[in-house]
Amino acid sequence: MPSDAVKNTSVENLLIIPATTDLSSADINLMANEKRSFMLHDALHQPDIDSLALDYILIDCPPSLNILTVNAMIASDAVVVPLQSEFFALEGLSQLMLTIRDIRQTAKPSLRIEGVVLTMYDKRNNLCQQVEADARGNLGDLVFETVIPRNVRLSEAPSFALPIIDYDPASKGSHAYHALAKEIIDRERTPKNRRAS
Ligand SMILES: Nc1ncnc2c1ncn2[C@@H]1O[C@H](COP(=O)(O)OP(=O)(O)OP(=O)(O)O)[C@@H](O)[C@H]1O
Ligand SMILES: [Mg+2]
Repeated sequence: MPSDAVKNTSVENLLIIPATTDLSSADINLMANEKRSFMLHDALHQPDIDSLALDYILIDCPPSLNILTVNAMIASDAVVVPLQSEFFALEGLSQLMLTIRDIRQTAKPSLRIEGVVLTMYDKRNNLCQQVEADARGNLGDLVFETVIPRNVRLSEAPSFALPIIDYDPASKGSHAYHALAKEIIDRERTPKNRRAS
């Protein structure tokens, strides 16, 4: 059953399905399967997953656009796109937008872009400000108000196997992710047509 892969975490109400090394060959193994793009969608719609009554399922994707990413998008209602505050970031983003359009046209008309979040942001860096201005100029409200700063506490947290909210709840990184979560929840409650584009 899909739920056999679900594990508890130290955070209340947070469950996780960790990746295993099997995932690295999944794209090759999936190729032979006629329903290869819908495997994750179908797995997440099983009654045992439904019975967990989850509010949100977050699917962490690789940066590449492959069969795993396509599975994730078809399984999802919406996509949250992290945008690193660097020069070529916007180019990768336009490629992703085309893929999302493709997925809408072929497999999942209702797929939304929930928003784009700027990460690794350093407000003293001119390039970061330029990327932010370009992103907001081109994408408007699609860009979350919250930006995730470059923050050393965020980079330390994984080596202690702790989420930032436990590792250093008072850090700028923790506050930023908290604000992002709130913004996403608020957007869900007040859906706007502008984000259907
Ligand atoms: N805002 C931040 N400030 C400082 N360090 C960060 C920040 N975000 C991520 N990092 C660090 O950068 C590295 C990569 O981060 P992360 O794993 O989130 O990126 P990713 O794009 O998902 O990478 P991958 O492609 O490997 O999945 C990690 O060591 C992480 O701790
Ligand atoms: Mg990652």
